[in-house]
Amino acid sequence: MTDLREKYLGLIANAGDEAALEDLRVQAVGKKGEISLQMRELGKMTPEERQAAGPKLNALKNEINSALAAKKEALADAALDERLRTEWLDVTLPSRQRPAGTIHPISQVTDEVTAIFADMGFSVAEGPQIESDWYNFDALNIPGHHPARAEMDTFYTHRAKGDDRPPHVLRTHTSPVQIRSMEANGAPIRVICPGRVYRADYDQTHTPMFHQVEGLALDKDISMANLKWVLEEFVKAFFEVDDVELRFRASHFPFTEPSAEVDIRCSWEGGTLKVGEGDDWLEILGSGMVHPKVIAAGGIDPDVYQGFAFGVGIDRIAMLKYGIPDLRAFFDSDLRWLRHYGFASLEQPNLAGGLSR
Ligand code: PHE
Repeated sequence: MTDLREKYLGLIANAGDEAALEDLRVQAVGKKGEISLQMRELGKMTPEERQAAGPKLNALKNEINSALAAKKEALADAALDERLRTEWLDVTLPSRQRPAGTIHPISQVTDEVTAIFADMGFSVAEGPQIESDWYNFDALNIPGHHPARAEMDTFYTHRAKGDDRPPHVLRTHTSPVQIRSMEANGAPIRVICPGRVYRADYDQTHTPMFHQVEGLALDKDISMANLKWVLEEFVKAFFEVDDVELRFRASHFPFTEPSAEVDIRCSWEGGTLKVGEGDDWLEILGSGMVHPKVIAAGGIDPDVYQGFAFGVGIDRIAMLKYGIPDLRAFFDSDLRWLRHYGFASLEQPNLAGGLSR
C-alpha cells in the first residue's frame, strides 16, 4: 500500500497536463483502478483484516483524490499564467490612425451622379481636355462666326507662326464628348460624360476650370418627355428628396433644338437651401433635343435616331447640395477646407446604401 501511495503521488506530481492527470486518475481510483481493485479484495478478508486494511485504503483513496484535485488546479493556474504572459496588449500605444486624406466634394458628387445615371442604364465616357476646334464647336453646330464662340471665353492654344490651322482649345464644355461617343459607339446610345472644362472667367461663382457632366441619349423613339423624366429622377435622387418640381424654360443652344434650361423649386429660408419647397427657382442645367446636324456630325443618321442631351454644372450642384458658398474654395487646396467638406475615403456612394451618408 505504501508502494502504491508513493507511486501515484510521484506520478501525479510529475503529470504534465490535464490529460495525463486524467489517465492517472483512471489508473488509480477509476472503476478498474489499482486502488479500487484492492478495495474489492476487502470482501474476501476476515473481519479483523478488513478492519485494519479498510480505513487505510480509504485514506489512501482520499489522499490520491486530493492530490489529483490540487494538481489539476495547479495545472490550470500555470496555463492561465502562460496566457497572461504571452497574450498581452500595450494599452499605451496610439490608436490606429484614420486615413488622412478625404474625398474631394467634386469627386464625391461625380461618383454620386455616376451612380444615379448608371442605375438608369447610362455608361460613362470621357474625352480629352485639349480639344480640336471642330469637336468643341463646329461639330456642335457652332460655326466660326457664331456668337457662342465669343460667349464661351475660350482659352486657345498656341500655333507656330505660319501654321494657319485653327488652334486647339481647352474644351469649354463636355459637349464634344457627345460627338466622340457617337463616333465610337453609334446609336442607340446612353452615356454621361463627366469632366473638367475651361473658360476665362473668375469670381465667386466662376473659376477658369470647372466641371460638367454631359448626358446623351439617342434612340428611335426618344422625346422631350423622356428627358423630363430622366432629369426629374436624377434631381430627386441627387438631392435625396422624394418630390421635386422642375421648370423647363425655353432657351437656346446651337446644339439642341428645342432647348430648355432647367430650374428646380427651392427655398433659401434662413440662408440654407431646401430643394423641392419654397418660392425660388434655381437654374441647374441646360438641355434639349439634339440638333440633327450634331447627330449627323457624330456619324449617325438623324432621320433614324433622335434624342436628348443635357449639361449639368458639377461644381454648382455640389455647392447646392453641400452648402458650399464659394466656388473658388474648391480649388484652393486648403487642408482645413478639405477636412471639413471632404468625404470619408473608404465610402462608395451608391443608391442602395445612400449617396452621401
Ligand atoms: N454645353 C452647354 C453648356 O456648357 C450645356 C448643354 C449641354 C446644353 C447639352 C444643352 C445640351 O452650357
